[in-house]
Amino acid sequence: MENILNIRNVSKIYQNAGHQLTVLDNISFSIQTGSTVSITGPSGSGKTTLLGLCAGLDRSSSGSVELNQVALDQLTEDQRAAVRNKYVGFIFQNFQLLPTLTALENVMVPLELRGEKNIKSHAMDLLDKVGLADRSGHYPVQLSGGEQQRVSLARAFSNKPAILFADEPTGNLDAETSDKVIKLMFDLNREAGTTLVIVTHDLDLAGKTNRMIKLKGGVIISDLELSHA
Ligand SMILES: Nc1ncnc2c1ncn2[C@@H]1O[C@H](COP(=O)(O)OP(=O)(O)OP(=O)(O)O)[C@@H](O)[C@H]1O
Ligand SMILES: [Mg+2]
Repeated sequence: MENILNIRNVSKIYQNAGHQLTVLDNISFSIQTGSTVSITGPSGSGKTTLLGLCAGLDRSSSGSVELNQVALDQLTEDQRAAVRNKYVGFIFQNFQLLPTLTALENVMVPLELRGEKNIKSHAMDLLDKVGLADRSGHYPVQLSGGEQQRVSLARAFSNKPAILFADEPTGNLDAETSDKVIKLMFDLNREAGTTLVIVTHDLDLAGKTNRMIKLKGGVIISDLELSHA
């Protein structure tokens, strides 16, 4: 099986008021196409930063990131956006819905970018899957945190991504909704072969993946294959 993601010697260093902060320190790992991976670790350990680099949302300070055989490091901002739109779904820790668009319109954006047809009904189907058909006309401020998270999920699913990055996808959800969302992600993995990379504090969720990577202080402190016999 080939790798959908190859991370080699990646570091991320922020310059802040004259001093350097090393948030990721020389990280290397690969992720197999079609697998499911969880990333855990304490607050501030670099999980969101790592996800952003893997997804091509941000650039590393050094090292290389290869996504679906494309080396992201040499690309311009626009080229990286094109790669993201083609292969990547992203569920943000803070949702990042567009505030001036309704729930439905937020889900329609990636479909529009891909030039799809029947985007409205496709977007409605996706909202329906996350249980929000009756909230399609609401703006983000008119939605609860969990509802915004589900819109974000529907949006991430909309372009049938080869790889889905989810940053605490169940962090704001009640147990029942959380179970639904988890099922949707794993269904996507099984049915469409979407690779899942999930940052989570929820060990139940992490335990459902094939592999658990643990970060601390910007380095990988453990990397375990999980068997689901
Ligand atoms: N733009 C930035 N400039 C400077 N420091 C940053 C920036 N973004 C993140 N950091 C720092 O990098 C470290 C890692 O942040 P990151 O968001 O990756 O952590 P995390 O593991 O996702 O934490 P959490 O579980 O709280 O979401 C933190 O100490 C944070 O303060
Ligand atoms: Mg985070």
